[in-house]
Amino acid sequence: MVPQKPISQQLIYEGKAKRIFKTDQEDQVLVEFKNDTTAFNSLKREELEGKGAINCQISVHLFELLEANQIPTHFLYQAGDARMVAKLAKIIPLEVVIRNIATGSLCKQTPIAQGTQLEPPLLDLYYKDDELADPLLTEARLERLKLVSANQRFEIERLARQINDLLKSFFEQIDLVLVDFKLEFGLGPEGEILVADEISPDTCRIWDKRNQDPKAKILDKDRFREDLGGVVRAYGEILKRIQGPSSNPGNCS
Ligand code: TMP
Ligand code: ASP
Repeated sequence: MVPQKPISQQLIYEGKAKRIFKTDQEDQVLVEFKNDTTAFNSLKREELEGKGAINCQISVHLFELLEANQIPTHFLYQAGDARMVAKLAKIIPLEVVIRNIATGSLCKQTPIAQGTQLEPPLLDLYYKDDELADPLLTEARLERLKLVSANQRFEIERLARQINDLLKSFFEQIDLVLVDFKLEFGLGPEGEILVADEISPDTCRIWDKRNQDPKAKILDKDRFREDLGGVVRAYGEILKRIQGPSSNPGNCS
């Protein structure tokens, strides 16, 4: 159990899967991971007991991995089972998706076959706006919207590809396949680019290398999207592998 940092009650923002609160430090926020689970722009919604805490712990671990590799993130420290303290950042309204294997919307919107290895990985940018259902951006629309400068765009894409390389090999070591994932970025107090939001099975597709069954191998939010059941159990399996054998009291090896 991680000691709980008390919530200030001053809610700054409530998203579909997280609440953001003020803290006693004006440049820091408390991020609370909710059990609420949504898909298809909230058309499907359910509360899954224990999901928030698992996603928080997975995110904490992955943010620490990025920080240890000199990738700047908003993460500061874990502050409870489902809470972390993060730097206050101005979120850039872009969803940056990296795809290593073709599935999901890519296969719905293009003739690219399910399971195609994408080398180099495909990077898609979406405009983050629930009311518009996060539309895919074209180069021209991105330029027109002026969400980021050319240098910021370059840095965001460079970081996203570097994070993909890191996470892909990290997951590989624990027999997990990083199929695709979504990142969000923010600007810190000095205008520096930080990885923000969360990195969890809600925002990644992760397949189990130890299981070849096309449904059973899915350990991410597709279990919820596709009504496969066992969502929290699958997320827990990812956390268990991330934490490694040392965290398993029953392991004597
Ligand atoms: P997609 O195939 O539906 O475009 O999803 C690509 C990746 O982005 C997948 O890992 C799930 C993640 N994702 C989010 O985190 N939030 C979203 O709103 C959507 C649509 C996808
Ligand atoms: N995050 C989006 C929603 O809540 C979509 C998704 O993850 O499928 O609706």
